[in-house]
This record gives sequence, C-alpha cells and structure tokens, in this order.
Amino acid sequence: MILGRLENKVAIVTGSAAGIGKEIAFSYAKEGAKVVIADFNEEALQQTVKELKELGKEAIGVKVNIANEEDISIMVEDTVKAFGKVDILVNNAGVGDNMQAAANVKDETWERVMNINVTGVMRALRKVIPVFIENGGGTIVNMASIAGLTGGRGGLAYTAAKHAVVGITKNIASQYGPQNIRCNAIAPAHVQTNFAASMTNVDEFGMKIATRGVNLMPKAGTTQDIANIALFLASDESAYINGVAIAADAGWSAY
Ligand SMILES: NC(=O)c1ccc[n+]([C@@H]2O[C@H](COP(=O)([O-])OP(=O)(O)OC[C@H]3O[C@@H](n4cnc5c(N)ncnc54)[C@H](O)[C@@H]3O)[C@@H](O)[C@H]2O)c1
Repeated sequence: MILGRLENKVAIVTGSAAGIGKEIAFSYAKEGAKVVIADFNEEALQQTVKELKELGKEAIGVKVNIANEEDISIMVEDTVKAFGKVDILVNNAGVGDNMQAAANVKDETWERVMNINVTGVMRALRKVIPVFIENGGGTIVNMASIAGLTGGRGGLAYTAAKHAVVGITKNIASQYGPQNIRCNAIAPAHVQTNFAASMTNVDEFGMKIATRGVNLMPKAGTTQDIANIALFLASDESAYINGVAIAADAGWSAY
C-alpha cells in the first residue's frame, strides 16, 4: 500500500471553510491527514466537513473566531480530544484592509486586521507549541502574502500585519527549531478567492497605488498552487527548511 505524504498526521487549518484554507484542508486529507476545519463561518465549515466525510476522510469542524483567545483554546483542545494530538497548524485565516493608505487608515480597520492576522496567529502558536513539544515536534505553515515581503502591494495595516507574520515565522523557527518544530510561510500574490470580493469601501488612493505594478504579475495563482506549497511545507519533504517565506507570485516580486 502506498502511504500518503501526511499519513497519521493531524492538521488544524484555520480559515478553511473557503478559499485557500479549504483547498489546503482537502490536499492534506487526500494525503492521509486527519483535518480540523476551524473557521467562523459555521454553515460553510459544516459543509466542508460534510464534503470531506463524503470522500471518506476524517475531519471535524470547530467554530472559531481566531481573534478570540477562548476559541483558540477550544480549537486545540477539541483537536486533541478527537484525534489525540496535533502535528500541523496552518495559520491561514486572514482578512484584508480595504487598501487603506496611511493617511486614511481607520483605527477600526487597523485593530481588526491586527487582531485577526497577527494576534490570532500569535495566540494559536502560544497554545499549540506546548502540545507540539509534548508530542516531540510539529510543523507550522503561516499564510503571509506578497504584502509581507514587499511594501507596495496592500494598504498599511495589511502590509504591517503580513510583515509581522513573516517575522513571527522566523522567530518561531529560530527559537523552537531545536525542539523539532518547523515554521514556514507562504507569500501569495493574487489568488482567485472571495478575498478581494469581500473588500468594501475600498480606499481609492491606496488601491490605485497598490495596483500600479499589477500588469507585471504574469498570472494569478490558483488555490491548488498555494495548497501544493502548503503540502510540501507540512510534509517531511521540506524537513531541512525552517523559517522561510516562499513567494508564490509567478516571479512578480523578482522584478
Ligand atoms: N486571495 C489572495 O489573493 C491572497 C493573497 C495573499 C494572501 N492571502 C491570504 O490567504 C489567507 C486566506 O485567504 P483567502 O483568499 O482564502 O480568503 P477567503 O476570504 O476566501 O477565505 C478566508 C476564510 O477565513 C475565514 N476567516 C476570516 N476571518 C476569520 C476569523 N477571524 N476566524 C476564523 N476564520 C476566519 C473566512 O470565514 C473564510 O472561510 C488570508 O490570510 C489572506 O490574507 C490571500
């Protein structure tokens, strides 16, 4: 029998009821992982769990607002209750900032983006790392963005938040690598999901400036393109990689 690349692994994927996270959850499940669909859209998360079960995969759903510490505790505890351990955490849940440039940034936007995209990641790590250590190690995949590697592709809050995610990625790799914990990030350019469509009251100035170089992006990515990288980073094939942020942008940022 050919074993999957994540056979017997348990993976929590945040923001996995839709978009990139959902594709990652399916890719992991197809490679033998038991997956936890952690999302705050209850209807969509139950639908995702149902689809996975129909494929004969092991999955549970947990309703989580990643900005809420108690929800994060429940997410990790429910995973351990259901599957006995956690091997992989994908910090994928994230929101945009409506491209608000510095002069126009609203406190409300700044706080929401930081709470979900940065504080949520920190709290999930704080909760899961002791579980990893008890288990002899673990793997983390953080969803950054090309806005986490460059300055001109998002509004102020989103750019700051995704740079923080890249910094967190390196810090975890550096501090916990010796305990068999790997932490890497993916930095996608544009991927076709509901993410862009969910932007409201877009800051016209911020949008105009941030999209100046879009014609130099060879193509948009698919959710499968990103899930393939997330699968590689979660599997032992990337065992010697720790603390990197992989640009997934068809070479856009290489220019
Ligand atoms: N789509 C892109 O072009 C793109 C590019 C670069 C980076 N990213 C990053 O990829 C990640 C996923 O984005 P996507 O494009 O799949 O978005 P999406 O909007 O299609 O899906 C995001 C999912 O996360 C969930 N979610 C949002 N906030 C949450 C919260 N507070 N708690 C729990 N769940 C929450 C949503 O319910 C949804 O199911 C984000 O971190 C985003 O910043 C996306």
